[in-house]
Amino acid sequence: MKLVLIGPPGSGKGTQAKLLVERHGLKYIGTGDILREAIQQGTAAGNIAGPLINGGNLAPDDLMNGLIHDIFNTTPPLTQFVLDGYPRTLAQARWFDDLLRRLNLKLDAVLNFVVSDEEVVRRISGRLICPVCRSVYHATDHPPKIAGHCDHEQAVLIQRPDDHEAVVRERLRVFHTNTAPVLAHYVQAGLVHNIQPSNTLNDVYTQMMTALSGRS
Ligand code: AP5
Ligand code: MG
Repeated sequence: MKLVLIGPPGSGKGTQAKLLVERHGLKYIGTGDILREAIQQGTAAGNIAGPLINGGNLAPDDLMNGLIHDIFNTTPPLTQFVLDGYPRTLAQARWFDDLLRRLNLKLDAVLNFVVSDEEVVRRISGRLICPVCRSVYHATDHPPKIAGHCDHEQAVLIQRPDDHEAVVRERLRVFHTNTAPVLAHYVQAGLVHNIQPSNTLNDVYTQMMTALSGRS
């Protein structure tokens, strides 16, 4: 399967992408995680993206397209993947269409996670992540087995620097402005399936499977 996940911050894209990876062996391409790793390592991309992310803004299109180009520039080409966080602007979506055309690949579906702004703020204020393996938890909805510690690593869980409420509000504003045209673009291509909000991870997963049934 070749999938794109779209949705506001905190809509559960990362959580559901990880389930798709575990259960279907898809390659996970999470551009937020890639940028956070680049920031941690102090690479040129990380130095450009760091202040933008921390202020709730997007990294530049050419930087993102370049990262995606490098990931897809493999032999044999990637044929099983889930994209989480890309494309996020109409310019990125058009550039990505061209890349897929050149590689003779076609997306199977775009899953659109519908979640209200109020629920986004509630979820993100409780989010904790593992700084080592990037696993995502929620303090009450999806807690780790031992409070404050990752289930897979010894690491102490942390809050993302862009998860403070003022930054989350800015990320929501940026999402609504930039990502609506991306969604319209994929609706026109007949690829979009809306995934309705549910606080049960399995309900969301089942909706994804229903949407994808019959697709390769
Ligand atoms: P990115 O890391 O992609 O962040 P985001 O899109 O804001 O999304 P989040 O990771 O915050 O949320 P999510 O939907 O993954 O939710 P999660 O599963 O964690 O990007 C970060 C930044 O990088 C961007 O702001 C931008 O600056 C930059 N960037 C990245 N890609 C870019 C691009 N292409 N172009 C330009 N800039 C780019 O879940 C959230 C919480 O809710 C968790 O605590 C989880 O446990 C909980 N939860 C999950 N599902 C449920 C559920 N069903 N019910 C209740 N709680 C749930
Ligand atoms: Mg995420």
